[in-house]
Amino acid sequence: MKVFIYDTKEDLFKDLANKYSKAIKNNPKINLGLATGSTPVPLYEELIKDHKENKTSYKDVKTFNLDEYIGLPEGHEQSYRTFMNNIFFNHIDINLENTNIPSGSVKDLAMEAFRYDKLLEKNQIDIQLLGIGTNAHIGFNEPGSKFDSNTIIVELAQETRDANVRFFDNMDEVPTTAITMGIGSILKAKKIILVATGDSKAEAIKNTIEGPITTDVPASILQAHENVEIYLDKGASKLLSK
Ligand code: F6R
Repeated sequence: MKVFIYDTKEDLFKDLANKYSKAIKNNPKINLGLATGSTPVPLYEELIKDHKENKTSYKDVKTFNLDEYIGLPEGHEQSYRTFMNNIFFNHIDINLENTNIPSGSVKDLAMEAFRYDKLLEKNQIDIQLLGIGTNAHIGFNEPGSKFDSNTIIVELAQETRDANVRFFDNMDEVPTTAITMGIGSILKAKKIILVATGDSKAEAIKNTIEGPITTDVPASILQAHENVEIYLDKGASKLLSK
């Protein structure tokens, strides 16, 4: 694991966006695994700026998001599809048909998980972007998840619902289940980039990097992947021993 620590979030996301921009220019047909949540928003903003200023093109890029809530109707403003369109896809020259997010609104969710796995089998992800939950979940793989699972339907941990209630009017509206790439699917990416900012992620980051590999800390399995980079601001890195 390579760990990069920045004085400010601004420096972190400028540097990371630069690396993404280079990777896309080097491989215009790159397969990008993407994440939602608050953490990567500044990255998407920097990439939009880069697309406008430096003409980095996404015409041949394919994207694969980690996860989606179950039960929100299509077009719901908090669905991850709406989020990705609004925050990123609508501002770059990507073909929306090349943007993939598992659906949480179809009837047959088992079939949807199967479909998403087949898609991922055909399209190995070059760079998988990850945020991390305060309980060290990655995607929506909560503590206790198996390390070898493919796309699955999961119950959200109460801690995760608490963390995400800020996006909804009240707790009753926060979905209780989600569809997510499994940890096994995530580990198939050629390279994994995990980003964490803020003090609230410090403990999860310490356990991920310095703790034992255990299903109690889902992100700890990243220690076993050969190409992982972790990007932290001061807050998220504050409990690391070195
Ligand atoms: C999002 C995802 C989640 C988030 C995590 C952190 O697609 O899979 O694992 O990355 O919950 O969320 P934020 O960034 O909002 O703290």
